[in-house]
Amino acid sequence: MKTRNWPILLAALLVAFFVMLPTGCSQQQAPVAEKAAPESMAKEEPVYTRADPGAWEGKQSSHIPVIVYKKSGTGLDVSVTVNHVMDPALPHFIESIRLTDGEGNVLGEASFVATDKKAEATFKLTSAPAKLVAIERCNVHGLWKEEVPVT
Ligand SMILES: [Fe+2]
Repeated sequence: MKTRNWPILLAALLVAFFVMLPTGCSQQQAPVAEKAAPESMAKEEPVYTRADPGAWEGKQSSHIPVIVYKKSGTGLDVSVTVNHVMDPALPHFIESIRLTDGEGNVLGEASFVATDKKAEATFKLTSAPAKLVAIERCNVHGLWKEEVPVT
């Protein structure tokens, strides 16, 4: 009797394993995913724009990323500059620039340290998205965004 039931028991164990697997994995991976997500891009953190600078009214010109692109074959050569002080003494500087297509795809990232002379990043894209969105992080004034259509 016991030997005839082993395939059924094996099937039940496999079903139980695969049913439990997603739950177990998601519970185990959640902390890893949280750690892997860039802290600078946390959803709770405000992203300031030219029209909505939040508490930093008047800081737009030194924080809004300047996006310049030119077509290169089927792609784009993109330059993103933030006309911001890079001062290691305070410190006050631009920590990073991220370029996306505005559809959730990261096209490139660059990190900076306070001793860098300028917060400027260049990206060579092999295709041209419909728009370019740049988000920079100032270590004092947070996240700032600019976007331009690609024509
Ligand atoms: Fe700043």
